[in-house]
This record gives sequence, C-alpha cells and structure tokens, in this order.
Amino acid sequence: MGDLLDVQNLSVRFEVKRGGVFGKKTYLHAVDDISFAVKKGETLAIVGESGSGKTTAALAVARLVNAWRGKVALSGRDILGLEGEALRQARRQVQFIFQDPYSSLNPRQRAEAIVREPLDSLSDKPDAEKQEIVAGLFKAVGLRPEQQRLFPHQFSGGQRQRIGIARALATRPELIICDEPVSALDVAVQAQILNLLRRLQTEFGLTYLFISHDLGVVQHMSDSIAVMYMGKIVEHADRISLFSNPLHPYTGALLSAVPSVDKARRAATKRILIPGDPPDPVNPPKGCRFVTRCPVAEARCRDVPPPLREVRPGHRIACHLVDERAVSPLAAVQAPA
Ligand SMILES: Nc1ncnc2c1ncn2[C@@H]1O[C@H](COP(=O)(O)OP(=O)(O)OP(=O)(O)O)[C@@H](O)[C@H]1O
Ligand code: SF4
Ligand SMILES: [Mg+2]
Repeated sequence: MGDLLDVQNLSVRFEVKRGGVFGKKTYLHAVDDISFAVKKGETLAIVGESGSGKTTAALAVARLVNAWRGKVALSGRDILGLEGEALRQARRQVQFIFQDPYSSLNPRQRAEAIVREPLDSLSDKPDAEKQEIVAGLFKAVGLRPEQQRLFPHQFSGGQRQRIGIARALATRPELIICDEPVSALDVAVQAQILNLLRRLQTEFGLTYLFISHDLGVVQHMSDSIAVMYMGKIVEHADRISLFSNPLHPYTGALLSAVPSVDKARRAATKRILIPGDPPDPVNPPKGCRFVTRCPVAEARCRDVPPPLREVRPGHRIACHLVDERAVSPLAAVQAPA
C-alpha cells in the first residue's frame, strides 16, 4: 500500500528572546530538516528525550504550528498550502490523542459533548446522525452508553483516555497522532489502552504517528521507529531492525534503559548511560548534535554533521562511525556484563 503520510525536509523554528545584539532575531530550530513516510494502516513511532522535537513535528503535520520549511503530503496531497474549506477537510483527516487525559478534556462538558465536538466543528451531519456516531464510538472504545451523560471527573484516568480516543475517531480520520497517549497512566492501564489502540487500528484502518519518550512502550506498537535527538532524526528503521541492531549510539543507550526489551540481548550488553543533558537547543553543537554526550565521539564529530543515510534497505542512520557493514560503534566499547 502507498504512503498515507509523506513528510519531506520539514523544519519548524521558534523565535526566542535572548539578550545580545539588538534587532538580531534568535531562533530555536525545534525540528530541523526531517523526512519520513508512513504507509496506510501502519504505525510510525517517533521516540526521543524531552525537548527532541517530537510534539512540534507532529503539530506541524497537523497544521497546528506553522512549518518553516518542507512538505507534508496526506494521501499524495500537499497540506501545508491549504486554506479555508480545503484545510477544514484536511483537518478531519488528522486527529490528535493527547498525553494528559486530565487536562485535555473540558471539565464542564459531558462526555457525549466532548466526543461530538469535532463533528460539530468539522462536519455538517444532522444532529440525529451525530448522536448515532457518538453512541457507536462509546461502544468502540469500551465505554457504556449511560456514561455519555457523565462529566470527565466521574471517569478514571484510563476511561478519560478512552473518551479522548473516541473524540479523535469522531470525524473518521485517516491519520491519528498519539502524543504520549499512555505516559500519564498506570502500567496496567497502559497495556489496556495500547491494546485498544491496536484493535481500533485494524477496525477503522487507521494510520498512527505514535510519539513516546519510551522505546519500551513502542516495542509492541510500531511498524517502524524514528529516533529524534535535538530536532533531527538520528536513526529510522523497521521495528525489528531497530530493536535487534540499533546502530546510533543514542538509540543504543535508549534501548539499554528499557527493562522489558529482549532479556538475552540485555544480558549481552552493559547498560549504557548517557551522561548529562542535551545542550542548549538555541546553540546546538555544529557537528553531530550528540557529540557532547556520545561515548565513542571522534574529533571529526565536533565539526562535521553526519548526514542521515541508508546503510541497509530501510535502515537510515546519522553517525560518522556507521557504514554499510551496519555495526554499532558501541560494540567496540561494550563488554559483556
Ligand atoms: N511554542 C514554542 N516556543 C518556543 N520554543 C518551543 C515552543 N514549543 C516547543 N519549543 C521548544 O522546541 C523544542 C522541542 O519541543 P517539543 O515539545 O517538540 O519536544 P518533545 O520531544 O515533544 O518533548 P517532550 O517529550 O517533553 O514532550 C524544545 O526545546 C522546546 O522548548
Ligand atoms: S557522529 Fe560521532 S558523536 Fe555523533 S553519534 Fe556518531 S560517533 Fe557519536
Ligand atoms: Mg512532547
């Protein structure tokens, strides 16, 4: 099947206030020249630490922040240039599920009104039909019909996220962006919500962009994974390649911190700690952005940014030390535990 979403060279920058020369504008490049595609019915996970640009990239795809450069095509149609009714149509095709079911639902609205809201603003269906759709969505996400009349505070955290999911489904979108959809929930509830998302994906033929800081959460949830660091994609591969042969030192470190990942693999590798925090995003390192924290950095990494290139079919990686042999540079510094 073809690509539902095709993102090319997307960049988003924010003007930030800094002291310094009067009149000179300073920008934070939250998303810096990223490209990826997602096939219809599949899930691309975007993973990375806080501040890596995951949410900003997703907001730009949904036209909720302005892209500075680049192209976003949905089913082959460029959506960044759309205005008016054409933009409204496109908005129906892309919906968001947010991290925090507590703050993303209006506390004064009944659950049925919350779920109906996107239909009210984005579709012209008659009221009776909207009511029928809402009732169907409550059932689809595992809520009882009588719960439609309740207010958000009368639901548990997991149930509130089910309301958020029902709301996202209301306009029958093709693409759903799940931004940390389970990180505010207890572990047991997380599994239920992830199972629900998977079931709905099959039932409604959905394509997901699934954002998480945790590789553990996406290991059962994604067809492919893009790892972001300071606005850049540093590695992108199908799920099996990424988990079995992570090539970027940053991915290796993220993976070694996931307790539930393949025990045999973990036993063979030491836990890799990433020292320190990411550098100031307004003044990123001029070479590889990971250079200040990378355990295998070399002199050239300081000066030359590594391009993202394909080293195996479908496996893209931005590191000077990885070539077509596709061997992780961490292998040289890792001894069995
Ligand atoms: N509206 C804004 N104005 C200025 N800077 C912003 C704005 N939104 C985000 N940023 C900055 O852009 C960078 C990327 O932020 P973003 O929220 O996309 O990261 P994230 O990967 O989603 O992080 P988290 O895991 O914490 O949600 C950060 O440095 C952030 O401070
Ligand atoms: S390019 Fe250099 S600093 Fe960057 S990840 Fe590779 S080895 Fe580390
Ligand atoms: Mg975020």
